[in-house]
Amino acid sequence: MINILVIFGASGDLTSRKLIPALFQLFIKKELPEPFFVVGVSRTPMTDQEWRTKLRSTTIEFNATKFDNSSWNQFKKHIYYFPGNIQSLTMFKSLKQFLKDLEKNATQKRTEEEQEESKFNSSRKGTNCVYYLSIAPKLYADTITHLGNAGMTEESTLLNQPIELRKIIIEKPFGTSLSTARELNQRTHQVFREDQVYRIDHYLGKETVNNIFALRFANTIFEPIWNRNYIDHIQITANEAQTVGHRGAFYETAGVLRDMFQNHLLQLLTITTMEPPNRFDAQSVRDEKVKVLRSIRSMTPEYIYNNTIRGQYSHYRDEKGVDPHSNIATFAAIKLYIDNWRWNNVPIYLRSGKGMSCQTTQIVIQYKEPPHSIFRSNRHPDSKIQLEANRLLIQIQPSEGIKLGFMSKVPGTEMELRNSNLTFSFHDHYSEELPEAYQRLLLDAFSGDASLFARNDEVEAAWEIIDPIQHNWDKTASSEAIHSYPVGFWGPDASEKWMQNQGKQWFNLCPVINSSGKQSPLH
Ligand code: BG6
Repeated sequence: MINILVIFGASGDLTSRKLIPALFQLFIKKELPEPFFVVGVSRTPMTDQEWRTKLRSTTIEFNATKFDNSSWNQFKKHIYYFPGNIQSLTMFKSLKQFLKDLEKNATQKRTEEEQEESKFNSSRKGTNCVYYLSIAPKLYADTITHLGNAGMTEESTLLNQPIELRKIIIEKPFGTSLSTARELNQRTHQVFREDQVYRIDHYLGKETVNNIFALRFANTIFEPIWNRNYIDHIQITANEAQTVGHRGAFYETAGVLRDMFQNHLLQLLTITTMEPPNRFDAQSVRDEKVKVLRSIRSMTPEYIYNNTIRGQYSHYRDEKGVDPHSNIATFAAIKLYIDNWRWNNVPIYLRSGKGMSCQTTQIVIQYKEPPHSIFRSNRHPDSKIQLEANRLLIQIQPSEGIKLGFMSKVPGTEMELRNSNLTFSFHDHYSEELPEAYQRLLLDAFSGDASLFARNDEVEAAWEIIDPIQHNWDKTASSEAIHSYPVGFWGPDASEKWMQNQGKQWFNLCPVINSSGKQSPLH
């Protein structure tokens, strides 16, 4: 079968920064399905050669340490460019012909090669074609309709074997609200079956996010203590040091809730709190994730007022493309509850912001404090030694690992106790660099595994959680409601005070496990 990735939005940032470098690395590792072609589609007039030259320099720029010239010279032969306007149906018809010709030539070449080696295998006929929408989200629905009208989405089988496979990868954001997501799902389903649709959330391709599945479901020791009986609360933080920079105009239409919570943070939440699926396959995993989303306690305006904090970094209104009176939140902290047996009344805190003190994405499982301390200090026999609660920290990025904090005795004659750590760092255990999220996701889409992609009901359930908060914030937007914070810290003071008022404290350390393998203490 010939494998073709058609990228709509070929001249965009995502293509040069993420997609082509990811494909190139897969090519070097010989992990791409063979034969493989990339066809880039966008309006800019360019020849194949011009696009290849451009991609060469951007791949060096974004992947310098891993660039290898002789591999690139092989890889570039698989790259083609098709200039065209995706708003024109005629363009899709010509693209369809172009893809057919590409397939015909590749099949012919392959057949000749195989005949020469006397291993001709006619069952490998056909095309596995994946369309990648890396275009402005407002063009998603029409592009999908054009693909349908041009007859580019039909699949076929021969002797019960698929010979024509057609899939579509849709980048985030998938809608900007529940109603727009529903509409986009409907338009998509007019053309594609749900199992042909791969909604990308690149957090799901991150190695450490996948390791949460392993931690929870490949070990027996964590499961018995992964519930309300032992866990006091959970903190999920995705902080970025970067400010919005040149993305001001986009950010004004999104804000932190749509940009980070509806997708990435809720994905981390579902994987951390879902019930064990009976199998690691797309349906079982996604069924469990949807159940969690549907169990999140609904939020009234009063609840939102008391349980959410919004902030904006101090110079956000001066960024290019930003309204000088903007009340868009660049920081948010939200407390929510999952109303089921496992998580009854366990507060779950989600937090994300731009312009923070460092980049760190981490999940903190804060265990309950020991119910009673038996230890007394030799020197002060009347005072009991205060015991600290255990804490399991899963660091997703920038350096990846897991750290478990527990009390241990400090050597000496005194009964002195201290928090110590058991640490697992990916960098200590594996010499290879962790693969970029897009590598895994692209391969999964080609092989037809949708476990790490969002399903239609999952996306809608996530919007059902975010929509009421967003509506409430829009209605009550004012400079008083949104707390200003200086760049380079952990968000507004109000967020720290809000936690303190609940008898809790944010886990503010970055990074906890650093990439040199050295570890900072777990406080
Ligand atoms: C994107 C958001 O989805 O994720 C960006 O649009 C954000 O605003 C980015 O910076 C964060 O991704 P990562 O992988 O760097 O944590």
